Amino acid sequence: MEQDKGSISNSRISTATHAEEHLAETGSSAKSVVRVVLLSLVLTCVWLTVRFPYEAESGLEYLLSGPNRINPQTLHLRGEFVESSLGPAEESGGGVTVRMIAEQYLFVPQCVVVPTGVPLRVRITSADVVHELTVNDTGDEIKAVPGYVVESHLEFKRAGEYPMHCLEFCGPGHYTMRSRLIAVPLEQFRLLSREARISCARQ
Ligand code: CUA
Repeated sequence: MEQDKGSISNSRISTATHAEEHLAETGSSAKSVVRVVLLSLVLTCVWLTVRFPYEAESGLEYLLSGPNRINPQTLHLRGEFVESSLGPAEESGGGVTVRMIAEQYLFVPQCVVVPTGVPLRVRITSADVVHELTVNDTGDEIKAVPGYVVESHLEFKRAGEYPMHCLEFCGPGHYTMRSRLIAVPLEQFRLLSREARISCARQ
């Protein structure tokens, strides 16, 4: 009888141990799944950072500093103000966005063609010090501040040429810092190539 009791409790113990082992196994397999998932996430991030270093860094910059902060040192290398995206660009929802960089002592592009009667979103930043773009005849003044993207909304009712110049003293070349804007009817604007839109070349 004593022996029987002993064997019952032994078998209980062994069942309990089996259950624990089973639990431990499930636990460890769940852990290894988590480990594999985490490892592949890390590897994917590493691969993305190596494969797209500029994009990864601008993404980080965006996350850390918000949409209107920008690094003036890397304007030409990556992000919104790379050379290929400067000048006027038609948006899918109508409207036109004009991107410009102000730097000692010029505005890039130096001449832009925009359509009349269309809301313009002007996004400008500076590569060095504070400048201020003014559009003659309209009284529009737009500050260009290093480290920030300043957005302004303009609309030209009348076609024609609008000289622009820098209004904020920015150094010895300040008085030579000029640029031009040419407003043309939308149909004419649409016929112009990108080149023509940023150099004011006739088509
Ligand atoms: Cu730029 Cu004055």
